[in-house]
Amino acid sequence: MRKPYIAGNWKMNLTPSEGAKLAAELKDQLKGVDVKVMIAPSFVTLPAVVEAVKGSNIIVAAQNVSDKESGAYTGEVSCQMLKDLGVNDVIIGHSERRSYYGENDEWINRKVKYALSQGMNIDLCVGETLDERKGGHLKEVLSRQIKVGLSDVSAKDMERITIAYEPVWAIGTGMTATSDDADDAHAYIRGLIESLYGKTVAENTIIQYGGSVKASNAKELLARKNIDGALVGGASLSADKFVPIVKCALE
Ligand code: PGA
Repeated sequence: MRKPYIAGNWKMNLTPSEGAKLAAELKDQLKGVDVKVMIAPSFVTLPAVVEAVKGSNIIVAAQNVSDKESGAYTGEVSCQMLKDLGVNDVIIGHSERRSYYGENDEWINRKVKYALSQGMNIDLCVGETLDERKGGHLKEVLSRQIKVGLSDVSAKDMERITIAYEPVWAIGTGMTATSDDADDAHAYIRGLIESLYGKTVAENTIIQYGGSVKASNAKELLARKNIDGALVGGASLSADKFVPIVKCALE
């Protein structure tokens, strides 16, 4: 049985004080709600949010991490730094990192392997652009992102990997994939995981959908067989919008 997993990617939004306020509201409003919930503030907002959610089950994650241990890497943040804060989860390979900051599948794989070696849990993002979808390359793109992104990752390590399928054309655009399209892509990803790791791992792997998720479409998406949760951007920036999405996962 896969437990629903709803995550909020705050991107480059919310200062430490704003983040602490939202985290405290979520802690309060999600008390007793039996859904796995994660929020991912910016690096500088992490300490305030870690403090604010203490005593709750809300997971606090980073949005990115270095593939290096330490050293002369200006502007980078290491797994050790995150873990020292009590942050053991990280989003890797978000499409904005891929497209604006040049992260490719090989680099993403180095981050995945290094973060796993440091005991972290990973939300690995994959997804096609509109041109790739229109050009009939959906499967080829997902296959490359999954196979390269997870290269040298063991079946045991898959217990610490969540996949987020986020069609790039649906992110921040208000355009959501239909639940049929999303479920098809999720089924394809689950099949890829089965071919790499076997049926049990494939059946246990959480695959979130991301791309303009809101309370009005979350229910239909989450009802689909292969959609186990959501990675939410814009609608994770206020408790009013995010809490109802989390509650959709209960139904
Ligand atoms: P969005 O972002 O919900 O604002 O479309 C999703 C994401 O990028 O994770």
